[in-house]
Amino acid sequence: MKEKSSISELSYNPYSKRDEYCYVEGKSGVVYPGVRVENISFPLSISAVQAAVCSCLANGDQPKAIYQTGNRSELLEYWISEFDLELIEEIPELTQIYNPLYPFPEHPEKELEKLCKQAVTIHSDFPVSALLYTEKGCIHGVNVEVGAWSLGLCAERVALSRAIAAGIRQFSHIHVAAPKSEFCSPCGACRQVLNELMPKSIIYLHHNKNSLTKHFVEHLLPNGFTSGALKNR
Ligand code: THU
Repeated sequence: MKEKSSISELSYNPYSKRDEYCYVEGKSGVVYPGVRVENISFPLSISAVQAAVCSCLANGDQPKAIYQTGNRSELLEYWISEFDLELIEEIPELTQIYNPLYPFPEHPEKELEKLCKQAVTIHSDFPVSALLYTEKGCIHGVNVEVGAWSLGLCAERVALSRAIAAGIRQFSHIHVAAPKSEFCSPCGACRQVLNELMPKSIIYLHHNKNSLTKHFVEHLLPNGFTSGALKNR
């Protein structure tokens, strides 16, 4: 299969076929790509702007402008007003594009602990970190909370949406840590999204007192929602 390389073709959109992509420029000058990532449970879909802004914030950066052509992201106006973004309706030559691929860490638990410091938890003060392993490298995720509670993203979904925007769809495993909880357990929405994008992969959950459990992603969502009627409409 021909590899898709242009961001305009990278959306995961099996239900609508609607491409949606953008770049959010941070105050650091780094530019963060975002694409639409749908879910069979439609309300769990991630818009391009949500993915890009959360990727920017999860990198300790602050969004300042958005480059967007083609289909407009859902709730674009919310993100523009929340972060006072300059809207630029063309995509210029971009040089400093965020590369989500990091080397595989020698000690995932230490990396998860370090990564948690980047979580943006303005409401919960509850940091979560995720390391998503792909054949091309390791993708980082932390939870990001924004003014509207329901529009932030969990750590797992920040990592997955960064991967999709980088054209990566194959995942071997993911590590997740939530140091303030006794037992680390992904939320229902993340189980749903993980199960759609990497059902056969492994998830490692890092609990308190250095304990670790290993699961197949699909085992975390028994009898998950499915319907052949929804695909390729
Ligand atoms: N959170 C995650 O990042 N992953 C999960 O699986 C559970 C919840 C975050 C979202 C929010 O920022 C905070 O934890 C409290 O819900």
